[in-house]
Amino acid sequence: MARSIPIRTEAARGPATRMPFAAPGATLLTALPPLSVYVHVPWCVRKCPYCDFNSHAAPAEVPEERYLQALAADLDASLPQVWGRKVVSVFIGGGTPSLLSAGALDALLALLRSRLPILPDAEITLEANPGTVEAARFKDYAASGVNRISLGIQSFDDASLRALGRIHDAAAARAAIEIAQRHVARVNLDLMFALPGQDVDACMADIDAALAFGTGHLSVYHLTLEPNTVFAKYPPQLPDDDTAAQMQDAIEARLAAAGFDHYEVSAYARPGQRSRHNLNYWEFGDYLGIGPGAHGKLSFHDRIVREARVRNPESWMAAAQAGAGAHVADSHVVQPAELPFEFMLNALRLRDGVPAASFAERTGLNLAAIARPLRVAAERGLLDPGPARLKPTPLGWRFLNDLVGLFLNDNP
Ligand SMILES: C[S@@+](CC[C@H](N)C(=O)[O-])C[C@H]1O[C@@H](n2cnc3c(N)ncnc32)[C@H](O)[C@@H]1O
Ligand code: SF4
Repeated sequence: MARSIPIRTEAARGPATRMPFAAPGATLLTALPPLSVYVHVPWCVRKCPYCDFNSHAAPAEVPEERYLQALAADLDASLPQVWGRKVVSVFIGGGTPSLLSAGALDALLALLRSRLPILPDAEITLEANPGTVEAARFKDYAASGVNRISLGIQSFDDASLRALGRIHDAAAARAAIEIAQRHVARVNLDLMFALPGQDVDACMADIDAALAFGTGHLSVYHLTLEPNTVFAKYPPQLPDDDTAAQMQDAIEARLAAAGFDHYEVSAYARPGQRSRHNLNYWEFGDYLGIGPGAHGKLSFHDRIVREARVRNPESWMAAAQAGAGAHVADSHVVQPAELPFEFMLNALRLRDGVPAASFAERTGLNLAAIARPLRVAAERGLLDPGPARLKPTPLGWRFLNDLVGLFLNDNP
């Protein structure tokens, strides 16, 4: 079995088949799940060599005004699909949203609020790169309503940061955390491990450095070589699999001892600090994704639709403003046969899984439809056999690809 799952925040998508209407025998949902909103800001100071996100080196000046106009047009065109639904969380991700001026971020949140009923206690997260953090701007972001900041720290070691091509050093990372903590109560730090030339001690020094700040949430990702990145073309010397596995085990033990709950494959939280936005993805909730390359998943009583926006920032801006719908590159009904895999791909990332009843609630399918893979998964010791929850066993969580693969439509 292969050790598994480098999937980051946005889960992998199934194949896109254009289907304007629901197929016969399709999904029937009795209630719609919670709705989140994802806003993609595509620009960064420069592109990191390992990164396969839809992020682009920013032009000399970020075209904030055109971006905001296109965002408004994108959202306006989407509104009929989410009419009357309340928004439980907003995630402004990237790219590097902290490149936006305080005024642009304020305008962005105002345009969301003027069009969508965002709950008063909604989690509103902004992703930030420490190389772009400025105290005054962060104070203004918080005043505009940002209540959670997710910082791309990656490492506290200058040599590692250089090897990763980051625009900031460790001192800037530390300063950014202090600024973020001054202005919002909930701060996440993104760290990566199995970095070029890293050993277990250096990895643990990063974890200890992160813990010293006392933030409530850590996302710890195994560095992966993604296709079409500079690192894929010119691979750096990385720790071998055994060393990486030792790092993973040591990270888990250290964070557990520090009171962090390892609640999702890469996510660790102190009590009450879980990311509500990401939980909604993993619990197969809905999300409207606007901005270049953003993905969305929206439920209707008779179908579940996945959408993807045009990836290139300039093309997306032009298409959104033209107003004929061409900024949506793909919109397709997820076929009922694909739903078990899609649901499990998300739900089983959670250590405690989800209530069994949520399978029918969120997919419109009867649990009996997946009786066979459920049985096989339990027989192989990958899925907890109890009836109340769909929950991976520790073995199933470790080999998540094998577990989730059992729910593929074409699996014999
Ligand atoms: C969109 S970025 C976060 C914010 C900001 N762009 C930054 O990098 O500072 C999301 C996170 O994904 C992780 N990530 C990106 N590429 C990765 C890769 N190839 N392997 C593992 N994690 C990766 C990094 O930890 C990064 O902070
Ligand atoms: S700053 Fe973040 S989004 Fe931008 S290129 Fe680097 S890792 Fe990717």
